[in-house]
Amino acid sequence: KARVAVLISGRGSNMAALLYASRADDCPYDVALVTGDKPDAPGLALAEAERAPVIRLDAKSLGADYWEVLHSALEKAGVDLIALAGFMRIIPSAFVARWAGRIVNIHPSLLPKYKGLHTQQQALDNGDTITGATVHLVTPELDSGEILGQVEVAVLRGDTAETLADRVLIAEHQLYPRILGRYAARPFDAGWIEQQVDALAS
Ligand code: GAR
Repeated sequence: KARVAVLISGRGSNMAALLYASRADDCPYDVALVTGDKPDAPGLALAEAERAPVIRLDAKSLGADYWEVLHSALEKAGVDLIALAGFMRIIPSAFVARWAGRIVNIHPSLLPKYKGLHTQQQALDNGDTITGATVHLVTPELDSGEILGQVEVAVLRGDTAETLADRVLIAEHQLYPRILGRYAARPFDAGWIEQQVDALAS
């Protein structure tokens, strides 16, 4: 099974969805580590209660060393794949390059629409009738890597950004384990990793 590290900054409901899905015998990945950038993220306590390996890192106090410390922790845990789940920090391109093709993210919009923050408010402001969520590969450019899977969610009359985000979140919890599982089922051998590095460089 592929060894996945889930990176979070907050409540970690997508992390929990990934973790619970991994308990199925036929799930192609295991959650080898839950970590992030904020040591008091509520999702880390949840992961600990569920007996997932947790490392609490403080990006603020580590400063420039943060990405190196994170990289070492991931290597030490024998991680094949990184799943960002509400990880609200821009990843430097040098870190992306070291994990080329092996970082996936979930974003609460139908990319390429609404990169960045406040996606549901933008969908409402534009009068969209459909929104959703996307699982994609992470590249140095924000929310722009190859799309691995999407789910559509209807916008209801009377929706606020909050009610809409709540429904999109339910769909995210279904989408993320399914798409991550499919992606994790491919071999992460040296040849494949080299291909991803080349793809990123070209
Ligand atoms: C999720 O809706 C996720 O798609 C979004 O943050 C939320 C995290 O919730 N991610 C982003 O906006 C990334 N740019 P969670 O902590 O409960 O999984």
